[in-house]
Amino acid sequence: MGQKVHLPLLGVLISFCFIRFCCGLNFGLFSSTLTRYQRLLQNPEGLSYDMPTNLLSAEYDFIVIGAGAAGAVVANRLTEVPGWKVLLLEAGKDEILLTDMPVFAAHFQLTDFNWGYRAQPQDGACLGLKDKRCPWPRGKGMGGSSILNYMIYTRGHRGDYDGWEQMGNPGWGWKDVFKYFLKSENAKDDLVDSQFHSTGGYMDVERVRHRTPLVNAFMDSADELGYNTVDYNSGDLLGFSRLQVNQRRGKRCSANKAFIRPIRHRSNLHVAKEAFVSRILIDPNTKRATGVEFLRNNRWYSIKARKEIILSAGAVNSAKILMLSGVGPRVHLESLGIPVLVDAPGVGQNLQDHASTCAALYTVNDTVSLKEERIAQVGPFLDWVTNGNGPITIAGGVEALGYIRTPNAVTAPDYPDIELMFISSSLNADPGTVVRQGLGVTDDIFNSVYKPILNRDAWTIWPMQMKPNSRGYVKLKSRNPLSWPLMYANYFEDPQDLEIIVHGIKFAIEMSKTRAFQKFNSTLHPIPVPGCANHEFGSDDYWRCAVRHLTTTLNHQCGTAKMGPSTDPDAVVDAELRVYGVKGLRVADASIIPRITAAHTNAVCNMIGEKVADMIKSAYGK
Ligand SMILES: Cc1cc2nc3c(=O)[nH]c(=O)nc-3n(C[C@H](O)[C@H](O)[C@H](O)COP(=O)(O)OP(=O)(O)OC[C@H]3O[C@@H](n4cnc5c(N)ncnc54)[C@H](O)[C@@H]3O)c2cc1C
Ligand SMILES: *[C@@H]1O[C@H](CO)[C@@H](O)[C@H](O)[C@H]1NC(C)=O
Ligand SMILES: *[C@@H]1O[C@H](CO)[C@@H](O)[C@H](O)[C@H]1NC(C)=O
Repeated sequence: MGQKVHLPLLGVLISFCFIRFCCGLNFGLFSSTLTRYQRLLQNPEGLSYDMPTNLLSAEYDFIVIGAGAAGAVVANRLTEVPGWKVLLLEAGKDEILLTDMPVFAAHFQLTDFNWGYRAQPQDGACLGLKDKRCPWPRGKGMGGSSILNYMIYTRGHRGDYDGWEQMGNPGWGWKDVFKYFLKSENAKDDLVDSQFHSTGGYMDVERVRHRTPLVNAFMDSADELGYNTVDYNSGDLLGFSRLQVNQRRGKRCSANKAFIRPIRHRSNLHVAKEAFVSRILIDPNTKRATGVEFLRNNRWYSIKARKEIILSAGAVNSAKILMLSGVGPRVHLESLGIPVLVDAPGVGQNLQDHASTCAALYTVNDTVSLKEERIAQVGPFLDWVTNGNGPITIAGGVEALGYIRTPNAVTAPDYPDIELMFISSSLNADPGTVVRQGLGVTDDIFNSVYKPILNRDAWTIWPMQMKPNSRGYVKLKSRNPLSWPLMYANYFEDPQDLEIIVHGIKFAIEMSKTRAFQKFNSTLHPIPVPGCANHEFGSDDYWRCAVRHLTTTLNHQCGTAKMGPSTDPDAVVDAELRVYGVKGLRVADASIIPRITAAHTNAVCNMIGEKVADMIKSAYGK
């Protein structure tokens, strides 16, 4: 920051204190006040220019739909070619300084930076959540879900990508995609000198800049149990590590901050924010994508694409837009009266996600965890704003990851079936106003399980199952583009998926008993989840029931426009991400993932954006 007083930051500080003072712990009021302060809270790095509709051209070489983890990269890389004019359409607004605060990641799920989707109710999962529906937060704004996410930077296992290649997708093996992970990356700290990392890319990767005593206990505990410390971004996973995150000096580094803001002066990139795309215009005779229709300021517009349209609206909305454009399962489209241009049975299918649970937590006897009452204070805020340090840099309390293989795993010997996400915090970190709201936990469960320990410190481990067998899907509710799609998660439809999570919980309980965690008298919180009290607390049946009630998702929804060879009837795009049956249209985002990776999916989507941009450049000889 230098010596000068930074006016926007000073404004933020004053308003932050003011808002805290006025609103106390009422987050609803807190966030609505913040939204009003939006102008004041503009990011000091400068925003990309928002092109008014009357200044947009009638035609561009490329139109990119969605400025998320993949779309932001595509827009950046395509505008490296000086002769190409690119339009980037994004439904949401720009980020604000507050979205930069990692520890409050969960808060933004309660604002209009979230599309606010919820999956349909299902038997056997999300039973302890409001209306038995799992919230499916999706980022709406410049940066997409990378403005809501927990900034965890992971690439997955080399076998994930070699698997994609073996499914008939040449060029997507580990050795190929590894280059693109490096291309995006600007590594910091101890990662700089590693052969598995690189510097000079757009996306910052650093270590979490603060550590609680509990993360040391987690790492020591892993050591006691015989696990090594690893770099989980080397292509191999088994072992434990403190977190690598997409942050820039302790502040969120979204895809927008990384890939769009630095190039905002490029005259061949037009960015239109708050532009809601309804469909892609496809010529019914030539089957060529010719343009895009969108809603902005209550008016409908259409703009043409000379060369190509790249659909990067994320795994839910890309499938929705394809179907509204007449590309999807014939019977489904016909039932809604949508003219079928291409019968593509795979659109919306093959949906995969990483399910987990918040059902087990551990109380400690010292003030070592992250609690809202201690963090949302002026001291930590100043430390963060001026130095990028302190507890505010810890994204939602996540500090470390561990990769283990459970005894009955069916994966390859070097391939973990569980990721343990260590969180030096729990649902009792705030009085039920934020974290549990985001997760959708009912009042009944919150009041009986978490309320009695609001004054206690606690930590938790979320076991995430790597390779679910269950598949969900997305379909349209109606042909009205403004209505929500219907989302079916189908978590634990294959009961084996549930068993693996139960193994993860039992492993976490073993960790809580190690010397390292006993220094804080870590104790499994013994109040059973209402609805599961008929099972003996701690038995396998109890945990099965608890996971089915307190189901959480890591929000890695993917696979709804599967990449695959033309011989695969469910494939929607080929290995260059071109939509089968339509000319001039590619999908580039989490939808194309044919099989979910052992990774949180943000970096995977950055990589997809990098790779498709290179394929487009070479297709046009650039
Ligand atoms: C709460 C949460 C936490 C997560 N935590 C992590 C994490 O810690 N680490 C990690 O690696 N991954 C994490 N993820 C997942 C990761 O962020 C996503 O997988 C990734 O952002 C998906 O990228 P995408 O390009 O497919 O879509 P997105 O990043 O979601 O981008 C899609 C963009 O398209 C826009 N859009 C959609 N529909 C339209 C339309 N009709 N018109 C115009 N624009 C539209 C959206 O507004 C959005 O900006 C998390 C996700 C969430 C929601
Ligand atoms: C450890 O926790 C247990 C259960 O909460 C409690 O009964 C005991 O007194 C605690 N011991 C110490 C030393 O804090
Ligand atoms: C917490 O409990 C452990 C024993 O489990 C004990 O050694 C330690 O002194 C206790 N700490 C506090 C602050 O009470």
